Amino acid sequence: MGFKSILSKFKKNERQEEAKKHYLTGKEIKVIAKANAQEMRRLEKAKNRKVPPEEYMSVMKDENNVLEVENLHSYFFTDQGVVKAVNGVTFNIPVNSTVGVVGESGCGKSVTAMSVMRLLQGPSGQIVDGSIRFKAYDYKTDEEGRPVPTYETDENGEIVYETVVDKNGKETHKPVIKGYEKVEAVYDIAKMPIKEMYKLRGRQISMVFQEPMTSLNPVFTIGNQLDEVTLLHIPGATKETAKKRSIEMLDMVGIAMPDRVYASYPHELSGGMRQRVMIAMALACEPRLIIADEPTTALDVTIQAQVLDLFNDLKTRINGSILLITHDLGVIAEMADYVVVMYAGRIIEQGTALEIFRNPMHPYTKGLQKSKPTMNSSTDTLYNIPGNVPNPINMPNYCYFKERCRYCTDKCSGEYPCMRQVSPTHFVACHLYESKED
Ligand SMILES: Nc1ncnc2c1ncn2[C@@H]1O[C@H](COP(=O)(O)OP(=O)(O)OP(=O)(O)O)[C@@H](O)[C@H]1O
Ligand code: SF4
Ligand SMILES: [Mg+2]
Repeated sequence: MGFKSILSKFKKNERQEEAKKHYLTGKEIKVIAKANAQEMRRLEKAKNRKVPPEEYMSVMKDENNVLEVENLHSYFFTDQGVVKAVNGVTFNIPVNSTVGVVGESGCGKSVTAMSVMRLLQGPSGQIVDGSIRFKAYDYKTDEEGRPVPTYETDENGEIVYETVVDKNGKETHKPVIKGYEKVEAVYDIAKMPIKEMYKLRGRQISMVFQEPMTSLNPVFTIGNQLDEVTLLHIPGATKETAKKRSIEMLDMVGIAMPDRVYASYPHELSGGMRQRVMIAMALACEPRLIIADEPTTALDVTIQAQVLDLFNDLKTRINGSILLITHDLGVIAEMADYVVVMYAGRIIEQGTALEIFRNPMHPYTKGLQKSKPTMNSSTDTLYNIPGNVPNPINMPNYCYFKERCRYCTDKCSGEYPCMRQVSPTHFVACHLYESKED
């Protein structure tokens, strides 16, 4: 036997050994499935339990934030093992700001967003640990559970009355309702029973998905679907006020001829128009937080720019905050005030947009920046970060980026690096930035 054939046999054996490491026997799969079933049953039960509000009412650590995600763990229980899709994520969204989340495919961006909305697909997808504190506006209610209205007043502070004629022709004078009294309340979304979450979804936090066609119902008109949001979430809304509001919303997101679009079905609109409708729907209740998961990926570049402008404009108009998820650094640079960089289910760096773009510190963030095409780059080939993300079922104990990192030192084979603060707003998880005493 020649040297080459011995070498190829040796390599084949090595490959087989490697494959065996990832192969699970029937018995092993059974053991995993049994353990998963128990855990999933426990977590599903917790989702639907009846608990007093004190168990999920909370307080913000910083009053300036609208959302505080702390040590969030969201897992998928699969027959191959537990996928730790979000593995200890902590970040804040200050009031009236845009926080961008970046990272390559599969790093846990969408799972983080879905966790905030409590939309993880159960029973396999579950939040297993952590807090998601959200500062909501609740409508104040009277003893009978009705929202307390605020009334229109004239220049002397007197309540304005209007004359209403009922169907029998009888006239009555009623005060003109301006809105409803609101009170602030902080909820820990991760601990809320799922039924309570319906109160927040749509009205307080709304989400814009990547592909609008999958989120719009093809058998109802745009008007029907928009009206429903108002009727469901705004107290005192009638069919007429809902229609008026829907048309206003369509106009606000820059749709020409809003009356016509109001009466159209989703398939009659272009992709850009559908995305605008989705944004109008997300804004219909003036939410405090909009989560946009790749909102412009399905759109062409010109429409992309318009939709981004729209988000920026609306943030100021409704005084809301945006959690913007994208793998497009250009979009982040244009939109975000703060940036969170995720890698393999964890945050590896976060800071203001300026800090992340001017002074990226983590080798992965540096790689991401380098892989961005620029007009004045002199090479023909784009930089790509070598290697792959580790298997999410079998994460190592050391830095997840080690196999791909060219700055790696001896320390990097030790414990996973903790988050270091490098400026009041800039944090990085990498051994390179540890002080000598660490
Ligand atoms: N239903 C599921 N069952 C098992 N694993 C899942 C499921 N959904 C997501 N995952 C895993 O969770 C991890 C994070 O997925 P996620 O969708 O959050 O990625 P992402 O950062 O949004 O990626 P992309 O940029 O491609 O949208 C991935 O490893 C993915 O394989
Ligand atoms: S901890 Fe080490 S391996 Fe990880 S990114 Fe930093 S230098 Fe690279
Ligand atoms: Mg995603």
